[in-house]
Amino acid sequence: MFQQLTRLNPDSILALMAKFRADTSPIKVDLGVGVFRDLSGNTPVLASVRRAEQAVLAAQTTKSYVAAAGRAEFNHAVEDMVLGAHGARLAGRMRTVQTPGGCGALRVGAELIRAAQPATIVHVGDPTWGNHMPLLGSSGLELARYPYYDSPRHVLRFAEMLERLEHAAPGGVVLVHACCHNPTGADLDIPQWRQLTELLLRRRLIPFLDLAYQGFGVDLDSDVGGVRLVAEQVPEALIAVSFSKNLGLYRERVGALISIGENQDRADAILSHMLHIARSIYSMPPDHGAAIAAHIFADPALKAQWLDELAAMRTRITDMRQLLAQQLRRATGGDSYDFIRTQRGMFSLLGVSIDAVQRLREKHHIYMLADSRMNLAGVTPDNAGYVAEAIAAEHRDQLPSA
Ligand code: LMR
Repeated sequence: MFQQLTRLNPDSILALMAKFRADTSPIKVDLGVGVFRDLSGNTPVLASVRRAEQAVLAAQTTKSYVAAAGRAEFNHAVEDMVLGAHGARLAGRMRTVQTPGGCGALRVGAELIRAAQPATIVHVGDPTWGNHMPLLGSSGLELARYPYYDSPRHVLRFAEMLERLEHAAPGGVVLVHACCHNPTGADLDIPQWRQLTELLLRRRLIPFLDLAYQGFGVDLDSDVGGVRLVAEQVPEALIAVSFSKNLGLYRERVGALISIGENQDRADAILSHMLHIARSIYSMPPDHGAAIAAHIFADPALKAQWLDELAAMRTRITDMRQLLAQQLRRATGGDSYDFIRTQRGMFSLLGVSIDAVQRLREKHHIYMLADSRMNLAGVTPDNAGYVAEAIAAEHRDQLPSA
């Protein structure tokens, strides 16, 4: 049977992680995988997480099953964090299940769409996170692309995005990054979210919002301004939430899928399917990380500590955006990279060719994804000058790969 299988190429992000680990150069710089890094290049366990973890372990009396929906208190806290007072206005139309990370949420969401309408087309931005297409596509759904970002000019292609979605067949699903777009760092502003919401309503398209970086852009509430606007107005929506980044719980796989149905009866039907899908894929989500998250969300002192830590992670990245842009001005004598200053979240697309990316890796030991996505959290005051010099050295090739 398995003789039929041909060997697949490894996932590009995971393969780059392995290449970086194998590089023994002392000057290597990791701008690859999307994890937060401190000034020493480490991805620390947050102090609030350590305290919550100790409390969770001390109070734990059993390792018995929780439920296919995960922890109820976690799910309610997630709804509050994402939708705030807007959630209450949804009048019982919202149902949430805890999932194994944001990936689990995306996959359960895709299976839910397929269960409801197998012929649904899911519209995904171009570019998007490298795992979106595999995660959604392997459910069997048809995928289509809409233009999102002009890499050579470092601006959104918003008018083209609307134009493409204007022609999408009613009933289609539109995947949108809620904030801190991966890989571009270019987000919709509130007037653009309003325009998008109007189009979704008019064209009867269903939003599927991917929220993996809440708190990494501006703050916890501002980063979901668009999500709240959409959720309050549309009859149906899905929101995939991840706590890998903002709680630093990457390997614990903590996420949630929030669904919004047309009324309470539809919401209950949706929930029954989400539970059935969860049961048939992984049965139940892992508990440990969600127990830690729920503990933090419920304890005002711990929550305040976490929010301080989240602000510190955000500030470190925004500081590095300023510093790298400044160093690039110095090294190139121009302002071509100033766009890095104002983009949000962990990532920006440098906009250089795949050859330049390869040279940066092979000659300078600087690792970024093939499309020139950089994780700004890999920049430090110590390496910013070196990174800028290296980019400037490859500057002649900075023309876009697209
Ligand atoms: C990334 O985009 O690098 C992260 O979200 C890690 C991953 O799983 O791809």
